[in-house]
Amino acid sequence: MLLAQISDLHIKRPGALAYRRVDTGAYLARTVAALNALEPRPDAVIMTGDLVDQGDPEQYEHLKTLLAPLEIPYFLMVGNHDERAALRAAFPDRNELRGGGEFVHYAVDVGPLRVIALDSMVPGQSAGNLCDARLAWLETQLDAAQGKPTVVALHHPPFVCGIGHMDELRLDPAAADKLAALIARYPNVERVICGHVHRPMFVRFGGTIASAVPAPAHQVGLDLREDAPSAFVMEPPAYALHRYDAATGIVTHHAYVDKADGPYPFYEPEGDLID
Ligand SMILES: [Fe+2]
Repeated sequence: MLLAQISDLHIKRPGALAYRRVDTGAYLARTVAALNALEPRPDAVIMTGDLVDQGDPEQYEHLKTLLAPLEIPYFLMVGNHDERAALRAAFPDRNELRGGGEFVHYAVDVGPLRVIALDSMVPGQSAGNLCDARLAWLETQLDAAQGKPTVVALHHPPFVCGIGHMDELRLDPAAADKLAALIARYPNVERVICGHVHRPMFVRFGGTIASAVPAPAHQVGLDLREDAPSAFVMEPPAYALHRYDAATGIVTHHAYVDKADGPYPFYEPEGDLID
């Protein structure tokens, strides 16, 4: 079972560049082509928020157009750059987006995995939060998923990553503590997966592993100085492939969108290691 995760697409209206530099639409088109070409093909793709850049209806229409060629079932989540009503309006047939009342949260099965998608956005601010209503909903979902391998997904990482300007925008620390305490009660939670920080990260969290993924376009610079200026770099576009089997659990592979040179054989046709 393969679950692909892409995050932080930041789609603009057609022709517009993010931060006057990045053609995020073109990058997403490349990512969709790369996902379609994967063998074996993922069972689903989860998109962990910041789907568009300013929550505009026109941007969601562009997102929808760009995702149309994706031949794999996909699930959309909200980040701080999203707008719940505009997202729902652009995807009227996506029932999971509208079953959570005020929030865009839902649980779905991807093969043997239960995926619980949380809504960590707070309209009008970049940092995230989980109010008591959302934490109570999560508890109900975790109770219902007991014994099933489970992935909890949310946009905002619930941990300090060391990149100062991103840490200011992380999940509210009190909410992160409550989330960790809740997750710790459910040993079937294989992963807590996040976006927002545009980099690959892994940390122990609530008795499981929390992780973040790079973006299909611009990445946040790896600058661990406390006063690191807010800046992005054009490191290679990438995503995560979460592979699950019952014996191992989840192994997360870091995957690049663009093809690299190769593959080249390790061995001669006769079987000797190439010297
Ligand atoms: Fe974000």
